[in-house]
Amino acid sequence: MDPLEARSKYVMKGVALYHPVTIERGANAKLYDVNGKEYIDFTSGIGVANLGHANPELIKAAEEQLKKLWHMCFMVVNYKPYVELAERLAKIAPGSSEKMVLLQNSGSEAIENAIKVAKQVTGRPYVVAYENSFHGRGTYGYALASTGKYKPYKTGFDPLIPGVELIPYPYCYRCPFKQEYPSCGLACLDYVKNWFSHTRVPPERVAAFIIEMVQGEGGFVVAPRDYVKELKSFLEANSILLIDDEVQAGWGRTGKMWAVEHFGIEPDIIATAKAIANGLPLSAVIGKREIMENTSPGSFGGTYGGNPVACSVAIKVVEIMQRDRIPERAAKLGDIMRKRLEEMFEKYELIGDVRGLGAMQAIELVRDRRSKEPAADETMRVINKAREKGLLLLRAGVYLNVIRLHPPLTIEEDNLMRGLDILEESIREVVS
Ligand SMILES: Cc1ncc(COP(=O)(O)O)c(C=O)c1O
Repeated sequence: MDPLEARSKYVMKGVALYHPVTIERGANAKLYDVNGKEYIDFTSGIGVANLGHANPELIKAAEEQLKKLWHMCFMVVNYKPYVELAERLAKIAPGSSEKMVLLQNSGSEAIENAIKVAKQVTGRPYVVAYENSFHGRGTYGYALASTGKYKPYKTGFDPLIPGVELIPYPYCYRCPFKQEYPSCGLACLDYVKNWFSHTRVPPERVAAFIIEMVQGEGGFVVAPRDYVKELKSFLEANSILLIDDEVQAGWGRTGKMWAVEHFGIEPDIIATAKAIANGLPLSAVIGKREIMENTSPGSFGGTYGGNPVACSVAIKVVEIMQRDRIPERAAKLGDIMRKRLEEMFEKYELIGDVRGLGAMQAIELVRDRRSKEPAADETMRVINKAREKGLLLLRAGVYLNVIRLHPPLTIEEDNLMRGLDILEESIREVVS
């Protein structure tokens, strides 16, 4: 049976499929389907394969550990790959405070646990998250409740757990307050301080705010630096923790190891996953020692969290990121992407906005630049045309009208250029 047919017959419908192709293997930034067709990968499996597919050094690290020990449960015995990785993460985490680490399996679990830490340690009941955010669909708890996009993630599941409040994200292209940045004077933050805090949840009842410095699924929306700085001051003044969701934006993607490093603040807790082990299931919560030390023994963990093979690969990922200066390379790739997208913006009215940070660049497509009517159908047509021409792209955004570029950070420059050419050809064909 054709693998796509088998999928529709045996795999539940609730798991969506972006691209109807069956991929057999990958090599750095190229993917090959079961019919031998070649694709340039601008998805990295949603920001995961930052060091490319089938990276030989990572294969070796996995193989070596696989032969020694592939599971023992970190709550049963101690093992070196977990503690070695914890040490490395604590040392590369942003800011000068000492850090401690918890390892889990997925981004959703990292989020759940980051919020559990914040609640347990502060003894406060509420969490504040952002509209248009995505923190995971993997569990029926905080990850989903703090996700600020209703369809498709929350469809049929609500009401979700109480105690999570959503506030507007500084999405300046579509400001919910109809203002212009920076003349707005950060009206959205003003709303949080002066209205939300008095009408919805008083600050002394809030354990943490959870924020993506660059919203991923939300469409690569970058928070203004002064917003983040002022937010942190407000949180500190009210003893509220800041949880930085680096699941998608971390691991060199934005041109620095952590996205938050662009913003000049030190978060209290970081949740990270995706590229940490380049695709083996692994995630981490990295928190300030003073916070993580006050968690209650036995209330965190799990059978699989911090699998030894995944940890060994992640240790190698850290080493390669530093040795090959991958974040710097991401910044350079990002400049190439940005320049090219801005040239496209000049040529095609369909592009309403170009934005992003480092190698996390996107275009938002609109039917009319003035009304900003989302061009969701056109977005899908561009993506489908690009696939036919051998480029895999991802869609994002609250209106599904954003094309985000997420190539491996090790992509060869000629493949990056070829991918951008295909994107432009596809846009041209859709508008003509
Ligand atoms: C910012 C962010 N947080 C959390 C998650 C959830 O991660 P996972 O799918 O591994 O549960 C994602 C996944 O896309 C994400 O982009």
